[in-house]
Amino acid sequence: MSVVRFLRSNDVDALIALEQEKWDGDQAAGRAELAARIQAYPKLSIGAFDPSTGAALASLFMKPISGAELASAATWADCARVGTPAAASGGSLFGISLSSVDGDAVTAIFEFFWPYALKHGWRDIYLGSPMPGLRAWKRANPDVPAEVYMRERRHGLPRDPQLRYYHRKGFKDVISCKPGYFPHAPSLDHGAVLRGRIPLSTAAPLWRLVPLPWLGQLRRLLFRLV
Ligand SMILES: CC(C)(COP(=O)(O)OP(=O)(O)OC[C@H]1O[C@@H](n2cnc3c(N)ncnc32)[C@H](O)[C@@H]1OP(=O)(O)O)[C@@H](O)C(=O)NCCC(=O)NCCS
Repeated sequence: MSVVRFLRSNDVDALIALEQEKWDGDQAAGRAELAARIQAYPKLSIGAFDPSTGAALASLFMKPISGAELASAATWADCARVGTPAAASGGSLFGISLSSVDGDAVTAIFEFFWPYALKHGWRDIYLGSPMPGLRAWKRANPDVPAEVYMRERRHGLPRDPQLRYYHRKGFKDVISCKPGYFPHAPSLDHGAVLRGRIPLSTAAPLWRLVPLPWLGQLRRLLFRLV
């Protein structure tokens, strides 16, 4: 069991250890970047911790994003930049980064966030996922565009293992394929922009009237509906 809560600036040491374990050198966020995300988006930065050691098991950083920002962004860095104006996001979030050494901790983070998302009126979360199977697939299919791989399915699920992972987490809409999105060799630097709809968020005006603790009670049910 992990302890899940919004992140604080003194969590940075624990978060750095997780970043370094899960991301390659040039991809891991540094101390300043992590601190800036927490400061700018304290209610959109969430961590799961081991209660006995204090180690970070999973982290999720999000920010508000507008449709125009999403449409004009060529790279992950364009979307992830901290401090861009958060106004008029229209209820959409961008998942800057998800890191985990414990799948249950990721589930716990999403369960934790759902009541806050409904209460606040967030409707969907976009993210840019690696496609770690792309490099091997391209070797066998050198003339076929990466977008074909991104949309390919086997047994009704995305062919790529990480897109399959996100599909199971509710990120079922595959929006676009972006070359040169971030440095990630197995993905040939391509990113897949995905969207996950927050379940029941279409009733946003209603949820604003419901006390947060009641929404908390509903969260297990809500998460099963994803
Ligand atoms: C992606 C991530 C957050 C998933 O963490 P998790 O919920 O603890 O789940 P796991 O890492 O155990 O992966 C679960 C399954 O998803 C699939 N998967 C997820 N990411 C994958 C990847 N990059 N390559 C291959 N398979 C992947 C695998 O099928 C895996 O199954 P396995 O148990 O048979 O290996 C974690 O692996 C991570 O931090 N990765 C590095 C950073 C990253 O890519 N973040 C997401 C960027 S948007």
